[in-house]
Amino acid sequence: MNSVDTIFAPAPDLDDRLADAATWEHGGRLWPSGEQQTLTCCRVIDETHDVRSFEFRTANGLPVRFEPGQFLTVSANVQGQSVERCYTISSAPTRPFLLSITVKRVPGGTVSNWLHDNMKPGGTLRAYGPSGVFTPSAAPATKSLYLSAGSGVTPLMSMTRAGIDLGLDRDIVFIHSARTPTDIVFREELAWLAKRSPRLRVFFVCEGVGDEAHWNGPTGRLTLHLLSQWAPDYLEREVFTCGPAGYMSAVRALLREGGHDPARYHQESFDIGAGVAPEPARPAAAEGIFTVKLSRSSKSFTMNASETLLSAAKKAGVVVASSCSQGVCGTCKTKVLEGTVDMKHNGGIRDREIQKGFHLLCCSRPTSDLVLEL
Ligand code: FES
Repeated sequence: MNSVDTIFAPAPDLDDRLADAATWEHGGRLWPSGEQQTLTCCRVIDETHDVRSFEFRTANGLPVRFEPGQFLTVSANVQGQSVERCYTISSAPTRPFLLSITVKRVPGGTVSNWLHDNMKPGGTLRAYGPSGVFTPSAAPATKSLYLSAGSGVTPLMSMTRAGIDLGLDRDIVFIHSARTPTDIVFREELAWLAKRSPRLRVFFVCEGVGDEAHWNGPTGRLTLHLLSQWAPDYLEREVFTCGPAGYMSAVRALLREGGHDPARYHQESFDIGAGVAPEPARPAAAEGIFTVKLSRSSKSFTMNASETLLSAAKKAGVVVASSCSQGVCGTCKTKVLEGTVDMKHNGGIRDREIQKGFHLLCCSRPTSDLVLEL
């Protein structure tokens, strides 16, 4: 994983500074990326009437290294069933001993509602990661435009907090859309951060005023007119967007209409909480029956070449950790010890992991008999 200094370069001594922080209490050990850990809840913060931040420490006290914008896959035991979901980290990697996720209670949201109802200080949660490529290191820029809606604010909040902590001289326009003023997540903190950092400008637009009759900000949706008012130079900015799928497609259309270069547009590729991502491409013609052996359990099963390894493993009764099923979250990452697969992922795995033989089972199909490290 890239270190935080390479994300925001140049800051050549940052890694040392973080390592010092890690050494301070824990002898420099870091939570290894990609492994499952137990997190212990140390604080629950009500951000709005239906959004809460849950702050965690790793159970063994190790600091966590991640990039702002990345997410965790958490595994909750809901009514005896293990259920996994991805949540973007809202805390900043510059404070590596605390990890927070910010979660909206949603109707029918199995894990989000479970967290709201059950997670208290002292409670524990299993988590994988951190994973994801929606990070500033994907497109380093001196001028950025952060656009978010609802709980999509979380990755952009992590990026903003990290930038401020590092004292980076970055020009950021942050526009957040909410249903009503009381639904604005991190409203006070964003305003406070903007006060401390003149190069961070924060704007809110609400669909309606709700209970806050004195709201003097704009109402309705984000328009090209508002965007041009708040960020007249938006064509020059690297855009990072996160929110519900409908919001992101509206923003994309808006920017296209305004003439923004699509190559400078980046969005979180799954709908937070819903786990919706582009379907990994299927091979044109996958035929054949292959045998898959599992090295740890000594189990084996046969499968059709057109199936994903994840779905075939589940059918065969093999328990495999998974979440998005779309090649995004990285939860199903498994080493292929023998054989070849065709993988079409959506950013949930890094090139160097692939070089080491890892693949995402949810978007990989066999092209020969296989032995998996499972
Ligand atoms: Fe998310 Fe496979 S389950 S990448």
